[in-house]
Amino acid sequence: MARVLTGIQSSGRPHLGNILGAILPAIELSKNPENESFFFIADLHSLTTLKDGALRAEYVRAIAATWLAFGFDYKKNVFWRQSRVQEHTELAWYLNCFTPFPMLANATAYKEKSEKLSDVNAGLFTYPVLQAADILLFDANIIPVGKDQKQHLEMSKDIAVRFNQLAGEEILVLPEAKIDDRIMTIPGIDGQKMSKSYNNYIDIFLPENELKKVTKKILSDSKALEEPKDPDSDVTFKLFSLIASESEIAEMRSNYTNGGYGYGHAKQALLACILEKFDEPRRIFNYYMENNEELESILVAGEEKARSVAQHTIGKVRNVLGFSS
Ligand code: TYM
Repeated sequence: MARVLTGIQSSGRPHLGNILGAILPAIELSKNPENESFFFIADLHSLTTLKDGALRAEYVRAIAATWLAFGFDYKKNVFWRQSRVQEHTELAWYLNCFTPFPMLANATAYKEKSEKLSDVNAGLFTYPVLQAADILLFDANIIPVGKDQKQHLEMSKDIAVRFNQLAGEEILVLPEAKIDDRIMTIPGIDGQKMSKSYNNYIDIFLPENELKKVTKKILSDSKALEEPKDPDSDVTFKLFSLIASESEIAEMRSNYTNGGYGYGHAKQALLACILEKFDEPRRIFNYYMENNEELESILVAGEEKARSVAQHTIGKVRNVLGFSS
């Protein structure tokens, strides 16, 4: 039996990149009866960038509702908020003391911001250590993530190896990233990687009129309607081909290359496809967003299960470090 684990930060509502890059592949893996799935909301990680507590609480609900909207079986598996299982932070502290400074200084997410060090808080700098704790606390084997998390996963493994060397045995299980090469990095509406921080994301749960405004803003070149167009360099086509069926993709491809088909048409087709393909998840999402108590009780039950697994690992780690009674 393999243990699958992944997390989403509550720094915004989940977007199409999170859904295609992590949530759907993780749910697919969770359907395998050989697997046991541990999916959580990384609300502590979101504090590195988001300080507004009311917003964080709303985003936590939105992330939880998204997992449920895509059919995560929370009864069979484990589903929780990171902040409610205190062993995450305890293990993170221990692992901080096994993490060399240059490893963190080399992290891409930190390096991107290191030109303005006054904007980098210590939480952001040690972010990968908390992530390693999230994974290692639950003896996770497979971590489905988008390509942007590859370096964090390598660090988690590296930190586990350093701890195990001290222990003289494999106390912490070495995790493996699972990155779907077909999905890679989902583009945002400006063609860069879709990201909350670039504000270029598509929130598929928006009401139809707002979703329409977002799809209209997708970057395109200035070719006239009658001109033939290159589908492979166009963002709308790329997004469409990530969610549409093979025959729909082939039809749009030939519309592009034949000409007489404008980017406006393609954007309308993308909107229709999102609304159709995500019709049921959109309904379930709205249901949970309106029924907070139900959502809360699902999370509280999950947190009990997560805590008992976490306590087992932390017990072994404390033992190695001389912190047990
Ligand atoms: P976060 O919240 O930024 O993203 C959640 C997941 O969505 C994937 N993703 C994407 N995949 C493809 N294309 C995109 N444009 C795109 N944008 C985001 C991410 O790769 C990720 O899998 N550090 C993590 C959260 C985390 C975590 C963990 C993940 C904390 N602890 C332990 C796994 C295991 C993060 O920031 O994800």
